[in-house]
Amino acid sequence: MMEPTTAPAVAHTRDELAKLLGEARSDGARVGFVPTMGALHAGHASLMGRAREEVGADGRVVVSIFVNPLQFGPGEDLDRYPRTLDADLETCREQGVDVVFVPDVAEVYPGGDPQVTIDPGPLAQVLEGRVRPGHYRGVLTVVAKLFGLVQPDLAVFGEKDYQQLVLIRRMVSDLCLPVDVVGAETHREPDGLALSSRNRYLDPESRRRAVALSRTLFAARAAAAWGYDVALEAARAEQRQAHGVDLDYLVITDPELGELPAAIPEGTPARILIAARVGGTRLIDNLGLVLGGAH
Ligand code: PAF
Repeated sequence: MMEPTTAPAVAHTRDELAKLLGEARSDGARVGFVPTMGALHAGHASLMGRAREEVGADGRVVVSIFVNPLQFGPGEDLDRYPRTLDADLETCREQGVDVVFVPDVAEVYPGGDPQVTIDPGPLAQVLEGRVRPGHYRGVLTVVAKLFGLVQPDLAVFGEKDYQQLVLIRRMVSDLCLPVDVVGAETHREPDGLALSSRNRYLDPESRRRAVALSRTLFAARAAAAWGYDVALEAARAEQRQAHGVDLDYLVITDPELGELPAAIPEGTPARILIAARVGGTRLIDNLGLVLGGAH
């Protein structure tokens, strides 16, 4: 396939965005949206490709690049979060993106921190939400705002941030937002490490150690046919062999992040999720499992 050569249109303000999207809507084009915080990598590129597949050649693919202060807690990496706009625009061009929305903070939050925000509910109290209080309130609030500004037919999110994906689906369903949420599989390095903008923080030794996260998950998948206990123990055994990996959680839940039933029937879909600090960088990963019944 020939690489697209046309640079995407870039909107910095809501008005510019509305004008560009108004043209698309008057053509009856479907709009597929990929919200990002920039520092784009091959995983983001695959989300853009997925959005294109969904809307077709006549549709419009819109990407937003906005490092959302509302989802960072005190002491987190808001100030040092990588900002690589020129390279990001090049990635968008390569992927044939039509419009890139790059607002500044005042454009998204003109009155400062919003008074009305999205309450993510109890699912935001567990896993990432437990260690990052306020994080999902910030994520859902900005995603709802971006949905309001872009008004996409569909939006693509990576499974890499699985709890985020589940919460966004939940918000869309509970608030009846007219957007189809498409989940896209995690993109991995050849050794299994899930792609993440935060992988840039890893020094070579930590990068080597970080592969323990995906190994742990794949060990569980390999043992999943023998049931929940065996799968979890296989993951824990793999984890015990990892050096320099400070585990925060390792859990198997149902696909909606709820508890699995006490008696698990053969063929039960599940999700294994892990979070750990490696050389000072917090990493997360997850994988789908199909559990066998206990033998
Ligand atoms: O996944 C991300 O990059 C962010 O959480 C998102 C969805 C763009 C909201 O800021």
